[in-house]
Amino acid sequence: MHAVGIDIGGTKIAGGIVDENGDIIRRSRVATPVDVAEIEAAVAAMVTELAAGEPVVAGVAAAGFIDRDRSRVYFAPNIAWRDEPLRERLEALTGVPVLIENDANAAGWAEYRYGAGEDLRDVVMLTLGTGVGGAVVVDGALLRGGQGVAAELGHMRLVPNGRTCGCGQRGCLEVYGSGRALQQEAAEIAQDAAFGIGAGLAAAAGASEGLSGEVISRLVQQGDPGALEALRRIAVAVGTACGSFAAILDPERFVIGGGVSQLGEVLLAPMREAFADAMPAYGSRPVADFAVARLTNDAGVIGVADLARRRFLTEN
Ligand code: BGC
Ligand code: NA
Ligand code: ZN
Repeated sequence: MHAVGIDIGGTKIAGGIVDENGDIIRRSRVATPVDVAEIEAAVAAMVTELAAGEPVVAGVAAAGFIDRDRSRVYFAPNIAWRDEPLRERLEALTGVPVLIENDANAAGWAEYRYGAGEDLRDVVMLTLGTGVGGAVVVDGALLRGGQGVAAELGHMRLVPNGRTCGCGQRGCLEVYGSGRALQQEAAEIAQDAAFGIGAGLAAAAGASEGLSGEVISRLVQQGDPGALEALRRIAVAVGTACGSFAAILDPERFVIGGGVSQLGEVLLAPMREAFADAMPAYGSRPVADFAVARLTNDAGVIGVADLARRRFLTEN
């Protein structure tokens, strides 16, 4: 039987039929509606469309705090879910068995199974997008926690009394290390004429597309000093946080995902440096390495389909 994987992101819902090898054999995609009921209708329609009349099981990756039963979304910082019975709703709409998983957990699981963590047992993944997502694989299993919501790595406090976060706290890694934080840093640098490196960003900010992630990435690749500085700031935030994550979890590898991760070394180099600065006993012990996610935009779909396959179609 096939497994459907659906990844509900802030801007788009991506789906696919995924085979046993983690390959997507059919795809679908729509823009994410704002309204919660419309999101559910869109996901249900996608499951039905992808199943094309065949019996399937479905995994749905969602950017929020999911309960231990993989059923409810307790809370989402960037989508309007508040104690949402997502599994129940989707099963009623589709008649298909559904498993709900945190989006970053799904992506991290895919990277561990089929991607940048393939040959390892202890992997931490961070996704840098609208938010900062986290996944922790410990000795080959996803860390779930007592309530189901472990590995919310983006909400570790990095800066006391820092910027306000969508989770209700202040100073979270998410508001310093996400793709959205990159845009914010870029906007600040563009405005700060005294800083003297914002000309490229300021010109881009005035153009029609504005300072989108893609525009900033393009400027980084062109070597624009303002864009490089903005990128360095989020790299330092993430690398610093990884020093603390390593103290607790001691992974073999940090896998970095999200659109901005595709910039590769220009992001990872300052991240590694900040990690070294923040890492207990650095220089006197073996440490994790850093790698870019390999499955890019497909990781959530592949990972959540595999988790649904395991839950509904195999013993483990
Ligand atoms: C949410 C996580 C999610 C991450 C990436 C964070 O704001 O708290 O649940 O995994 O964003 O989407
Ligand atoms: Na997570
Ligand atoms: Zn937060």
